[in-house]
Amino acid sequence: MDLTDATALVTGANRGIGLALARRLAREPLGRLLVGVRSLERYEPVAAPPGGAREITPVQMDLSGYEEIERSCAALGEDLERIDLLVNNAGLMTGGLLEEQELKQVYAMFQVNLVAAAHLTARVLPGMLARRRGKVVTNASISGYAWFPAATTYAASKAGVVALSESLRRELKGTGVTTLHLVTPGVNTGMLDDTEQVYGPYNAQVRCLREHLPDDVKVGTVDKFQGQDGAVAFFSMATSSGAELPRNLEFLFSRNRLNVAISRARCLAVLVCSPELLHVRCRSAEQMRLVNALCLLVEMAGEQGGHS
Ligand SMILES: NC(=O)c1ccc[n+]([C@@H]2O[C@H](COP(=O)([O-])OP(=O)(O)OC[C@H]3O[C@@H](n4cnc5c(N)ncnc54)[C@H](OP(=O)(O)O)[C@@H]3O)[C@@H](O)[C@H]2O)c1
Repeated sequence: MDLTDATALVTGANRGIGLALARRLAREPLGRLLVGVRSLERYEPVAAPPGGAREITPVQMDLSGYEEIERSCAALGEDLERIDLLVNNAGLMTGGLLEEQELKQVYAMFQVNLVAAAHLTARVLPGMLARRRGKVVTNASISGYAWFPAATTYAASKAGVVALSESLRRELKGTGVTTLHLVTPGVNTGMLDDTEQVYGPYNAQVRCLREHLPDDVKVGTVDKFQGQDGAVAFFSMATSSGAELPRNLEFLFSRNRLNVAISRARCLAVLVCSPELLHVRCRSAEQMRLVNALCLLVEMAGEQGGHS
């Protein structure tokens, strides 16, 4: 596509792949580059070299829901109709065993990855169709084609993106408007860090325990056991030391989760944790309070001769 004097919009362009795409597009002789960010405070300035985009404007593109997208489109004003190149890049990742995924996160992920891509495209298309010129690029993923355990919902959203883009490409035949979906391989951005760090250790341990224990022993993360109980409950902290905290101290040492884990046992609760977690570095009184709860449990177990 000839990008001379064209108007382009990239969503989720304050970091990761979106920022890289915006920086690359800034080198093209665009008339206008609209850098879509969820919140303007998060705008990471994009500069154009000589001969690159004439104008670069950050625009708020909050894709969290119907109203937010409508507001973002309204704020674009006449620019909405002028967009020649739309890059639906913004996305969220969910991962983990399906029954243990946080369903609210799953809803938010489908919203951004798939529903928002359809919504924004529908709003941008009339301008493109009127000018008989335009391209809608949507960031899919290898997950839209290759399906792995623990990637169920994310893969489903990306397979949906492939279907959306490919069906639309056929629908737009002969209009001068085309679509393209990107099959991005693994790129080391915040997205992969977040997911792997948060779910990796827990899922690895759940799988390992399931492999080694008889089928009638229930294994899962704490949240799965709300409202259930058993004669004996084992609670494993799944993290070796403070330096390897997958999310943050508040998550691992949450008193709610600890309470749920221990109160599920009718006769005996066994807490499994690395001794290093008792010496984790705290940065606030609240963190000390959380870590102290674990220390107290270990101390009480020691007094009863149950600490090893
Ligand atoms: N990294 C990979 O290996 C990989 C592989 C295949 C496909 N992809 C796809 O590539 C795209 C970009 O991924 P990335 O790796 O660059 O991820 P990233 O670094 O986590 O960036 C995600 C971007 O999406 C934005 N976003 C999330 N929720 C939003 C919402 N409700 N409204 C508006 N913007 C929102 C984020 O904005 P905030 O900063 O405000 O949160 C951020 O700019 C995604 O569609 C992803 O699925 C990535």
